[in-house]
Amino acid sequence: MTTPWSPGSWKQCEARQQPDYPDPALLNATLRELAGYPPLVFPDEADALKADLADAAAGRAFLLQGGDCAESFAEFSPDTIRGTFQLIMQMAMVLAFASKLRVIKVGRMAGQFAKPRSTEIERSGDDALPAYRGDIINDISYDADARIADPKRMLRAYAQSAATLNLLRGCASGAQGRVHQAASSTGIIDASPSASRFRALAARVDEALDFLAACGLDPASAPQLQTTQFYTSHEALLLPYEEALARPARAGGYYGSSAHFLWVGDRTRFSGSAHVEFLRGLANPIGIKCGPTLAPDTLLPLLDTLNPHREAGRITLISRMGHDRVETLLPPLIRAVETAGHPVLWSCDPMHGNTIKTNGYKTRPFDRILDEVRRFFAVHAAEGTIGGGIHIEMTGQNVTECTGGAWGASEQNLGDRYHTHCDPRLNAGQAIELAFLLSEILNGAVRDRTVDAAA
Ligand code: PEP
Ligand code: CO
Repeated sequence: MTTPWSPGSWKQCEARQQPDYPDPALLNATLRELAGYPPLVFPDEADALKADLADAAAGRAFLLQGGDCAESFAEFSPDTIRGTFQLIMQMAMVLAFASKLRVIKVGRMAGQFAKPRSTEIERSGDDALPAYRGDIINDISYDADARIADPKRMLRAYAQSAATLNLLRGCASGAQGRVHQAASSTGIIDASPSASRFRALAARVDEALDFLAACGLDPASAPQLQTTQFYTSHEALLLPYEEALARPARAGGYYGSSAHFLWVGDRTRFSGSAHVEFLRGLANPIGIKCGPTLAPDTLLPLLDTLNPHREAGRITLISRMGHDRVETLLPPLIRAVETAGHPVLWSCDPMHGNTIKTNGYKTRPFDRILDEVRRFFAVHAAEGTIGGGIHIEMTGQNVTECTGGAWGASEQNLGDRYHTHCDPRLNAGQAIELAFLLSEILNGAVRDRTVDAAA
């Protein structure tokens, strides 16, 4: 028997990774204020994404989810947002052209502010301070006052999310949302070694679009060529904030209104978790990060809790095992889910299992990222299941945070443009290189499935 759910029922469960707010009166006043603010996203949009994700689970579409590890107040600018949007559009074009699958675009944007931490304390010599938990909670500077959790930061994060979403909606419905535009402006990837390959592909897309126009299909007559759908997502980590933005829908049920897609992180998906309790009552599509410690007998009850009616598109399992462990750890999970008959979309996060420390910097070797991607899709091919998505940390800026790749940093020059507030991101050149690798994998996978279906 399950106990009744309410937006605040998570408080009866174990809530990990939450800040201690020293001023409860200020916290409550801030949450009351937030609860009166407009929703950022709407139920019909979340439902549309759920239907899209059901298509991806069935092999009729592909999920491309990417953006910052942590958005920050300092890096908030229209150029940063447009840059990441454009890069996602360009990656989507590479993927769609090769696979002939519709690509579902979801940003880790407009709300990705709270970070789970491996340790509560950050040390500097003999000194220690509470860890930085993301700009929605405290400040990254190593200073005792800066690390105090301040509820007012939630209002600023909400405002930044609203402004980011406004620009993203403008990009998606305006010129930047057109396939023509993704094909015609290389912009940020111009200097990357993949640029000439990208331009060659863009020329073929252009030719296909000219042909369509000659057949009478142009942006004026075909809305698919005029605009794109762009969705937002983040880890639903800071529960008081998420609760304040949970809203009843007119048609019944509750929706998280802070983003279309919310996920539960690898550190908070344990059985009895307050995060799972909170997400169970929302109607949005939900992601679950699946790291090396997740056993099949923990995953199945989690699926029963989060998707009791086995709704298609409701659950995306985001595998982040690490390049050298995916082959041993993923198959048992896939088999358990298949045997139980739970409908899920499998997506690959090749970032979080491949983080290392070099020269004092957290980094990720690009070849390990590619390796995990290859192995993830190979495992699905061997199991006869569908790898239907990718989840990456990336930025349209030319940062030096992940090593390797044709346009990456070396271990020595990581410090040149290392700007992330948390984990290292792919830069634009690395992201396009990854898209090309994926396009080859997907092209093969889709071809094999078509042959199987015809046989
Ligand atoms: C993240 O996606 O930034 C993250 C912290 O992931 P995970 O929960 O998989 O460690
Ligand atoms: Co991260």
